[in-house]
Amino acid sequence: MPNVLDTSHFWMPFTANRQFKANPRLLASASGMHYISDDGRKILDGTAGLWCVNAGHCHPKITAAIQQQAATMDYAPTFQMGHPMAFEAASALVSIAPEGLNRVFFCNDGSESVDTALKIALAYHRARGDGLRTRLIGRERAYHGVGFGGIAVGGIAGNRKHFGPALPGIDHMRHPLDIAKNAFSRGLPQHGAELADELEQRLLALHDPSTVAALIVEPIQGSTGVILPPKGYLQKLRAICDRHGILLIFDEVITGFGRLGTAFAADFFGVVPDMITCAKGMTNAAVPMGAVIVRQEIHDAFIDAAPDNAIEFYHGYTYSGHPLAAAALLATMDVYRSEGLFDRAAAMAPYFEEAAHNLRGLPYVKDVRNLGLVCGIELESVPGKPTARAFDVFLKCFHDKGVLIRTTGDIIALSPPLIIDQLQVDQLFAAIADVLKTQKAVPQLEAAVA
Ligand SMILES: Cc1ncc(COP(=O)(O)O)c(C=O)c1O
Repeated sequence: MPNVLDTSHFWMPFTANRQFKANPRLLASASGMHYISDDGRKILDGTAGLWCVNAGHCHPKITAAIQQQAATMDYAPTFQMGHPMAFEAASALVSIAPEGLNRVFFCNDGSESVDTALKIALAYHRARGDGLRTRLIGRERAYHGVGFGGIAVGGIAGNRKHFGPALPGIDHMRHPLDIAKNAFSRGLPQHGAELADELEQRLLALHDPSTVAALIVEPIQGSTGVILPPKGYLQKLRAICDRHGILLIFDEVITGFGRLGTAFAADFFGVVPDMITCAKGMTNAAVPMGAVIVRQEIHDAFIDAAPDNAIEFYHGYTYSGHPLAAAALLATMDVYRSEGLFDRAAAMAPYFEEAAHNLRGLPYVKDVRNLGLVCGIELESVPGKPTARAFDVFLKCFHDKGVLIRTTGDIIALSPPLIIDQLQVDQLFAAIADVLKTQKAVPQLEAAVA
């Protein structure tokens, strides 16, 4: 009797469960740039898992560090206790963070890092006697994870509409995607920096700056299809926040750890926020971990405001600074440094850009946008069936071409491990090109997920 996998009990996240379970796509092992599917096919990973396996899969140094730590000390609390590796991990993170951001609060993933940062922002203003600053500002089409804080400042209708009002006192700026003006821009779009002005001219004029605690932005909006900041836009946001005492949070859950060829997008853009949220690449995804990296003044405001022997910040997770995650982080930082992976990504970026823009002119390609080792390919939607075209390309790439891509709406988003070589870049884009060339006006999906 063949051993048939029972897929019924796992309620899969962000998945069309019925469609998937009718024809499961199963991964069995991984190494370097590849997955091996359960039927033994080699799949090129064009998405670093979910934007997270930056050093490539099953890196032996990271695997060994986790194995050794699991056998030495499986778990240790960090509430009123500690273990050396958590402190070493925080120092390692600070060593690559922008100057001035030197205090680290650990959590377990990107969603927790966002909710932690929002709580820090609110409590920081209160700790320094400015507790009327309770408003938080995000952007349309932003993805900040799935916590109630994250969906409140996030700007994806589908992630918000089912769950009630989430947090009060939230407002949103417009997103800066403008295909009409910026289609097929290579690197940063030329047009749109002025959209940053609406923070001051519309939102702060409406709410008054004295009520606003923080603005949170992804330097690149990844999950809704690679929306790049126009030239000068992030610099303008920084200046406006400075003028009005508003904290600027960069959500670097996908842009951190070399994705743009620098440690953080903050370095790439030369804009230093007050807090960075991160996760994913910080352990090469081998153990879940997230963090908020904070300016020292913010941390010190908490410490200084609390009486002796009192807990300064009523927040934390059982697994904050988990020993396995800390071990994975230390090994990952070592790999990034010793293998020069951030520089490697920077060196590969022009080749990746060229390959991406060669898709221009293929059927249904509406826009290509790229920065570092990130690329978004926006396709014309099938009338009345949004998502159907990109999902069809995704299925064909996986089943017929042995290439894993990711899609969101009708946009293909690519974010390969930083170790990708030129032949693999060629393979990735050739697979997408081949599939696009044979696209039908209305693709016959296994099952549409509109
Ligand atoms: C910018 C951003 N923030 C937060 C998150 C949430 O991270 P997680 O899925 O680890 O909770 C993501 C996930 O993709 C993200 O892209």
